[in-house]
Amino acid sequence: MNFQDKTIIITGAGGNFGRDGCIYFAKQGAKIAAFEVNAETLEETAKLVKEQVPGAKILCQPCNVTDAANVKAAVDAVVAEFKTIDMCWNNAGYQGHITPTLQYDPVDFARVMNINVTGMFIVLQAVAKKMEAQGKRDTTYSIVNTASVAGLHGTPAMVAYSSSKAAVLAMTVSCSKDLAPYGIRVNAISPALIGPGFMWDRQNELHASSGSPYYSRDPETVAKNKVNDVPMKRLGTIQEVIQSVAFLLSDQSSYTTGTNLVVDGGVISGLKC
Ligand SMILES: NC(=O)c1ccc[n+]([C@@H]2O[C@H](COP(=O)([O-])OP(=O)(O)OC[C@H]3O[C@@H](n4cnc5c(N)ncnc54)[C@H](O)[C@@H]3O)[C@@H](O)[C@H]2O)c1
Repeated sequence: MNFQDKTIIITGAGGNFGRDGCIYFAKQGAKIAAFEVNAETLEETAKLVKEQVPGAKILCQPCNVTDAANVKAAVDAVVAEFKTIDMCWNNAGYQGHITPTLQYDPVDFARVMNINVTGMFIVLQAVAKKMEAQGKRDTTYSIVNTASVAGLHGTPAMVAYSSSKAAVLAMTVSCSKDLAPYGIRVNAISPALIGPGFMWDRQNELHASSGSPYYSRDPETVAKNKVNDVPMKRLGTIQEVIQSVAFLLSDQSSYTTGTNLVVDGGVISGLKC
């Protein structure tokens, strides 16, 4: 897959996926525009990219995806620096509380929806406006939204997160239809169980203590049961997620739009939604 000199915006660039994504695409020669609300983790990502990819081009934009003016200014800054935008990994997200429905705090529900749905739409629209203004070309522009298998299956004790990721899938399909005439492809990626690491361990602890009858009270048993449900009987890796995103962003998938790639513990399957 050739990303040499292409510009990619990656949101959530200070997080697990976003950070490794910045490093991966920098290694492929892409110009990186890293968007992140947390200035400290963003700085750390920039440092790692520069250490691991000497000469890499990276523009850091501290940016809150829920703030349309903030996002517009960040996207304008990318065009000012790199001239064009070719790709976007629309990836920032918030998992919300791990609490069964009867106890779920509506304030947190709204926060999850604001970041994961409205924020994702704000970025998508701001990026697509620039792509449309750049004009049609031989290859397509490409946007990948990070959804989750929670949006397909509905994870217990994660009603807000599951709802938000289902909305991301519907957004992806709807936007893909609106934007195809401009040569802009929009797809989604749905990671399942990704690990090992802090996020995986923490999630199992939270599920174990959630009070949900669907989870054991013991985090290790929670983890074992979850992995047992995965076809390949193992966790997926961040690199497997990134490889799938890279495929959807690349010209190799130039006819693919309105789809959702499920990264299910190592099994990657296409699902037209
Ligand atoms: N890690 C997993 O197992 C997993 C599985 C399925 C889906 N996902 C999704 O993948 C994406 C990345 O996950 P991750 O594991 O890297 O999570 P993470 O928490 O490490 O990273 C998410 C990043 O988004 C940033 N962010 C949150 N709100 C923001 C805002 N308003 N504006 C800008 N940035 C904001 C956070 O600061 C964080 O750096 C998320 O959308 C998540 O829902 C993750």
